[in-house]
Amino acid sequence: MVRLETERLLLRDFAPDDWPALHAVESRGDVARYQSFEPRTPEESRAYVTAASEDATQASRETYDLAVILVAENLLIGRCGLGLTNPDLGEAMLWYTIHPSYWGQGYATEAAHRLLAFGFDELRLHRIWADCDPANSASVRVLVKLGLRHEAHLIENAWIKGAWVDSLLYAILDREWTTSDRGQQSPIRHP
Ligand SMILES: CC(C)(COP(=O)(O)OP(=O)(O)OC[C@H]1O[C@@H](n2cnc3c(N)ncnc32)[C@H](O)[C@@H]1OP(=O)(O)O)[C@@H](O)C(=O)NCCC(=O)NCCS
Repeated sequence: MVRLETERLLLRDFAPDDWPALHAVESRGDVARYQSFEPRTPEESRAYVTAASEDATQASRETYDLAVILVAENLLIGRCGLGLTNPDLGEAMLWYTIHPSYWGQGYATEAAHRLLAFGFDELRLHRIWADCDPANSASVRVLVKLGLRHEAHLIENAWIKGAWVDSLLYAILDREWTTSDRGQQSPIRHP
């Protein structure tokens, strides 16, 4: 079981009874706006959390989709994760979602920073990447604060909710993580 701590957060595996709390986040239109899914129904949220908690029991695990718990309130405020997209090359994708009541307080950045440390230091990954809709300015800002490099702007590579959309690709390598984590210019240390 994975339990990762930060100054204000606990990132941990989902348990089946977390689904109402995650549903409170992912049933919202503002949360789903730039995502590939529509606001979730209760059935979808329950199925999602069940699948995530089952992933956590896999012997050779490729998905780390973790609940984000605000420790001071003992409250699930979102989720974030790493999914191995190419295990042979040590490559994984990063994602994050936070309840709008808690936006703008650095929680996504804090959670994702801990996941980068987990990915590079414990999973020994080589490359972690993320993609996002160019209109999703808050997500772009999180990636920049984490120190990911802008690698590409893909034009109409995705068909989401009835329209073609572009994607921005961001990535960071293990050696870049080591450099930024040791250096004086780490965006996470000086946000
Ligand atoms: C993206 C998301 C996770 C960010 O969560 P968060 O906890 O608010 O993130 P942080 O507080 O760590 O950082 C957000 C940054 O974006 C900035 N920001 C927020 N809205 C913005 C906007 N419309 N334009 C520009 N910057 C914006 C904030 O000011 C902050 O930057 P700062 O620290 O330099 O001031 C949150 O908006 C979310 O859950 N969105 C819905 C799900 C989603 O889109 N996930 C990403 C899919 S790619």
